[in-house]
Parts: sequence; C-alpha cells; structure tokens
Amino acid sequence: MDYVTLGIIGCGAIGSDVAMAADNMEEIDRIYLYDIKEEKAEELAGKLKKGAVKNFYDFVGDADIIFEAASQEAVRQYAEKVIEAGKDLIIMSIGSLLDSNLLERLKSKAMEKKCKIYLPSGAVCGIDGIKAAKADVVDEVTLVTTKSPASLGKQLEKRTILFDGVARDAVKKFPKNINVAACLSLAGIGFDKTKVKIVADPVVKYNSHKVLAHGKFGRLRAEVENLPNPNNPRSSYLASLSAIATLRRAIDPIQIGA
Ligand SMILES: NC(=O)c1ccc[n+]([C@@H]2O[C@H](COP(=O)([O-])OP(=O)(O)OC[C@H]3O[C@@H](n4cnc5c(N)ncnc54)[C@H](O)[C@@H]3O)[C@@H](O)[C@H]2O)c1
Repeated sequence: MDYVTLGIIGCGAIGSDVAMAADNMEEIDRIYLYDIKEEKAEELAGKLKKGAVKNFYDFVGDADIIFEAASQEAVRQYAEKVIEAGKDLIIMSIGSLLDSNLLERLKSKAMEKKCKIYLPSGAVCGIDGIKAAKADVVDEVTLVTTKSPASLGKQLEKRTILFDGVARDAVKKFPKNINVAACLSLAGIGFDKTKVKIVADPVVKYNSHKVLAHGKFGRLRAEVENLPNPNNPRSSYLASLSAIATLRRAIDPIQIGA
C-alpha cells in the first residue's frame, strides 16, 4: 500500500476530530501537527499513535495532504505554499475565498501543479445537488439559517428575520455564518446571486440550515438541524464529520456524489 502522510494546520475542535479519525485510517502512516499555540499541537499529539508536532515549513515537503482548520489568516498565510509544494489541500476556513484574487491564484497554481483543493460541505447539506444542477441553468439558490436569538446575540420573543439579502453582504454582517454561505456560493451561483436569510427563532434549540434552489433540473430543498460538537459547543458536529469524509474522499479511489 502507498501510505499517505497528513499535515494538519490548526489543532482546535475540527483539527482534533480529523486527527483522531485519521489516526485510525490504515492508509495514513504519519500525522504532522502544527498550531500557532504549540501546546495545542503537543496535547493532541499525546492522544495519537501516528502524531508528531512539527512546524508547517518543516512538514510541507513531506506531507501528501494538508488539512487546514485554523483561521482565514492561516489560509492566506499557508495555502499558496501548500500548492507551490505540489500538495493537495483541504480548506475549512472557506470564508477566506471570498477574496476572489486569492481564489484565482490558488486555482491557477493548483492547475499548474496538478493539485486538488477540497472544500468540505461543512455544516450544510445539499451541496451535491447544487453542484449537479449547475451543469445547466440554476435560477435561484437561497440559504435560510435559523438560530436561537441568544446564539445571534439577541433577546426576542418571536421569530424574526434579521437579514435578507445576498451572501456577500450576509457574511459581512454575520461573519459566524461565513463558511456555510461561502461554500454554498462557490458550489452554486456565486456570492452576489446566492440569497441568504438569517432568522432568529426562540422555538429552536439548535442551528439549522435550509438550502432551497430551482432551475432547469427542477427544485431542491435540503435541511439540516445540527447538534453541537461534543468537544466545542460553538461548532456544529457535522462540520467535523464532513471534514473527515472529505479526507476519505481525498484518499479513496472511488468518489461518490456529484
Ligand atoms: N467549513 C465549515 O463549515 C466550517 C465549520 C466550522 C468551522 N469552520 C472554520 O474552521 C476553522 C477551525 O474551526 P474550529 O472550530 O476547529 O476552531 P478552533 O478555534 O477550535 O481551532 C482553531 C485552531 O487553529 C489555531 N490557529 C489559529 N490561527 C492559526 C494560524 N495562523 N496558524 C496555525 N494555527 C492557527 C488556533 O490556535 C486553534 O487551536 C475556523 O476558521 C472556522 O471558521 C468551518
């Protein structure tokens, strides 16, 4: 078997979940861990069989796949260096790609180096349908995110629409929603056409994301109600699971889904 060496940037909630899952993947022989806070990488390495703490610049040459779960700043700092080194890259901080210059630079460098850049669907569902639908005309894509008023920093007695506009403006006003809106926009009709509604609803306990779309294919409606990550209540567990599934996709010979 050709073993895969994984490099992880960011050893917080998602990076740790991915590292723990990768530790049990037989195709992976080594997991290099880097975090701006070295103690986070050290603590995680202590829980792994295959883990080793290394600086990004010391492992980028040895890793086959690099997984980012750190911050938008980390994407700006490291993504081009990963691709320049000819390695595949999985990006969790997808909001960084709102910067179309960075996105275009990464795309053209990846073409030149024959590398893949994976953007996990994260906390949202329906991305496969949107990707397929985009092969012909898609008239409209809408993301409806519903959260409790408290998690949106509000005190409200009844369901209230806090934002109704396009993704590019939504991510400025609600930066916590940035990765979901960015992933859906990039999969479909872009930041300036994808519509976003942000709803505060005192009835709901957990965050939900609903994707609605119509076009030549017909009509799509996908909804997910997310439970929090057991290790980090601020993050949806599905985001970590989607990251693990994307790592599997980067390794597996068979690719399922549009
Ligand atoms: N795509 C999605 O659906 C989705 C969902 C949730 C979170 N995210 C994004 O994924 C990223 C990680 O999320 P998390 O919940 O694991 O966060 P977290 O705060 O639990 O962990 C982030 C870790 O990265 C480290 N870090 C920050 N900047 C760094 C840098 N420049 N270099 C190296 N390490 C750095 C931090 O010290 C921390 O340990 C965030 O940017 C978050 O916005 C994406």
